Amino acid sequence: MKIRSPIVSVLGHVDHGKTTLLDFIRGSAIASKEAGGITQHIGATEIPMEVIENICGDFLNKVTIKDTLPGLFFIDTPGHEAFTTLRKRGGALADLAILIVDINEGFKPQTYEALNILKMYKTPFIVAANKIDRLYGWQVNEKSSFMETFSKQPANIQQNLETQIYELVGILHQEGFESERFDRVTDFASQIAIIPISAQTGEGIAELLTMLMGLAQQYLQQQLQIETHAPAKGTILEVKEEVGLGLTIDAVIYDGIIKKDDQIALMTSEDVITTRIRSLLKPRPLEEIRDSKKRFQKVDEVVAAAGIKIVAPNIENVVSGSPLRVGRGNMESIKEEMLREIEDIKIDTEDVGIMVKADTLGSLEALVNLLKDIDIPIRTADIGDVSRRDIIDAAIVRQEDPANGVIIAFNVKILPSAQEELKDSQVKLFSGKVIYQITEEYEKWIKDTED
Ligand code: GTP
Ligand code: NA
Ligand code: MG
Repeated sequence: MKIRSPIVSVLGHVDHGKTTLLDFIRGSAIASKEAGGITQHIGATEIPMEVIENICGDFLNKVTIKDTLPGLFFIDTPGHEAFTTLRKRGGALADLAILIVDINEGFKPQTYEALNILKMYKTPFIVAANKIDRLYGWQVNEKSSFMETFSKQPANIQQNLETQIYELVGILHQEGFESERFDRVTDFASQIAIIPISAQTGEGIAELLTMLMGLAQQYLQQQLQIETHAPAKGTILEVKEEVGLGLTIDAVIYDGIIKKDDQIALMTSEDVITTRIRSLLKPRPLEEIRDSKKRFQKVDEVVAAAGIKIVAPNIENVVSGSPLRVGRGNMESIKEEMLREIEDIKIDTEDVGIMVKADTLGSLEALVNLLKDIDIPIRTADIGDVSRRDIIDAAIVRQEDPANGVIIAFNVKILPSAQEELKDSQVKLFSGKVIYQITEEYEKWIKDTED
């Protein structure tokens, strides 16, 4: 038995400061090196508890769980797209989350979307109200606690911050969550804590991490215990070509142990495949998994929680967001279990309805659930780009009922042949990178056509 680090997803709208927050915590500056400042891939970083304790200081004294946790394992997500949680049979990827909101901008489409996903998966979370240093007239006190820097601000600046906080409280209330500024929270089980921070100046980060550790203490005492000898379970973050290595998969392992030469089961959009690990690579401590220029370290085995890169044959069609399972002599039963997981998503569709396409299993599941919440019947739900075949299928369905001649496509390409087919077709395509916007456009279209 071992206690693993909690997996913490950092979610929020584009440019609201997810990567900068993790950079501050890491003491590095990956954001400034990113192409165009935009996160291209998901990163995963484990922060040792010493680092957390250093930042939090005395705040953490009362949070006893710090003595048992090895650290915090952060997953940075680009905007929303890759919050890939296929949560079946306890296979949760994120144990906790930080929802980050630029306090000057408030809630944006991807903030709502992230909140919806947290709601759906019942993930405990805190809200980081970021970029307080940008508030008009704010006087920066580098790295100080929120309470300290707040007490040094002039009264009108304090008032301005409070107003912005209550904006967030209001929106969260509309979305079904009670919330308060963290120091005024009276019941952490029923209220979401909002922590004003600046990821740039470090103000408030001590309290942010303290609140996160508090959530870990409240919710995660049990689920972090792992069997260090059990075959590993994980989630695929990405399949990518790596110079000198060929095709690799990046994965987060949340349970058990994975070894070089292990047999693993993986999902393609059609099937479950098995393959054997050729090399197991681990980024060095405090390095980002996506920072491939830094050397990876070859290892013989890895125990959860860990972000790893795997080299193995036949992984071309493996789907991001899908599960990875290590098998030791029981590959067939694992394959069957995983096939049932694919079926669970596909079977839950109806005889008549629209078509849904998405890039990952996680996002497909999220999208299907959102559409069901607004009572939209779904006939097919699949992973992959929109093809000519899809348009033709939708056109056939449309003949029965025009309202079902619809394709909702999240974060996938519309293939040129499909675009061509679409030109002479009545099929209605809603596509984009923000689930919330796509469903809104669709709902608006339904309303307009009914009128
Ligand atoms: P995506 O990964 O593209 O979704 O964005 P992100 O949420 O990771 O945002 P990122 O950390 O890249 O920050 C976006 C911009 O905001 C960068 O220019 C940061 O330097 C800036 N920024 C982030 N946090 C703060 C903050 O607290 N204060 C100020 N002044 N700027 C910030
Ligand atoms: Na950005
Ligand atoms: Mg980022």
